[in-house]
Amino acid sequence: MMKYALITDEHVAELYGKGFCRHLQELGYNVELFSFPVGEASKSRATKEALEDALLQKRFSRDTTIIAMGGGVVTDLAGFLASTFCRGIDLILIPTTLMCMVDAAIGGKTGVNTPQGKNMIGSFYFPKQVIVDPRFLATLPEKEMLCGKVEILKAGLIADRELFLNFSSLPLGSSIERALEIKRRIVAQDPDERGVRRLLNFGHTFAHALETVSGYEISHGEAVAAGLVFEAKISQAMGLLSAEALAQIEDRVPLVKLSYNREALVQAMGLDKKSRAGFARFVLLQAIGVPSICEGQYCAEVPLNLIKRVF
Ligand SMILES: NC(=O)c1ccc[n+]([C@@H]2O[C@H](COP(=O)([O-])OP(=O)(O)OC[C@H]3O[C@@H](n4cnc5c(N)ncnc54)[C@H](O)[C@@H]3O)[C@@H](O)[C@H]2O)c1
Repeated sequence: MMKYALITDEHVAELYGKGFCRHLQELGYNVELFSFPVGEASKSRATKEALEDALLQKRFSRDTTIIAMGGGVVTDLAGFLASTFCRGIDLILIPTTLMCMVDAAIGGKTGVNTPQGKNMIGSFYFPKQVIVDPRFLATLPEKEMLCGKVEILKAGLIADRELFLNFSSLPLGSSIERALEIKRRIVAQDPDERGVRRLLNFGHTFAHALETVSGYEISHGEAVAAGLVFEAKISQAMGLLSAEALAQIEDRVPLVKLSYNREALVQAMGLDKKSRAGFARFVLLQAIGVPSICEGQYCAEVPLNLIKRVF
């Protein structure tokens, strides 16, 4: 008989995991709940190993399906576990944060962090199913909602003009559907990120530099929001994006006031793993919803002195 391991963090376990597990047991499923402490620090080899040991001690083996219920920390970690447990077992994702619904749960990237960096160990592993239910968002704090909203705006900027321009008046459920479908479609075309999948990094070169320079004090959502506007400005400085489109972007992307050291930021962008000495790579926009193909590279090298000018 198929066994199910429901993996989640302790917070989501209290909110939804325990009730869901009980409900499945009442329906006759052979399912057990496994949880771990909340937060990015848990996305580690140590947590993965502890979960693996717990599963093995309870005699879970090849006939197991992992159900990962939670935010990106849970789906990345449990997805990686599913990809290596007994050489790979079935995986179902139930994302409960907005960011996870439109981004982390889509695309097959799994992994854990190491002291040397984020997501350094992991795999590409696709789930059998992703179950998206916006009702989970009723309990999600606004700060976490922001992170997902920014990813939806990014999806609009690279592929869906109407989604970007009308986001605030569209029903959230339909925005989620459109954004995750954009990611699903792009990933299906380029699962290994050799071309068109790079578009999903729009806003992220700047965002990663900002996160590094702030010592991860600012949230990922705040950093990506700043990155969307900054990289739109780069697109305009490169002669691609119109001033009118840039103004519409500045008008719609929610920005928080940030103070940072410009020199440190430029340096961090130059050191990004996608960069060459003296250049940083950016995804560029031609218009809202229309990315620049950049001769099939989907991103372009921008000289650091132009970036300094844009500041
Ligand atoms: N695999 C990918 O393609 C991909 C893409 C983007 C991000 N990520 C990863 O995702 C992670 C961040 O994910 P996240 O932003 O979802 O954070 P998270 O998983 O840490 O969740 C954020 C917080 O929200 C809580 N939470 C989750 N669902 C809730 C709900 N419905 N109601 C109330 N609280 C809830 C969690 O317990 C946690 O405290 C990072 O590790 C990042 O690297 C992966």
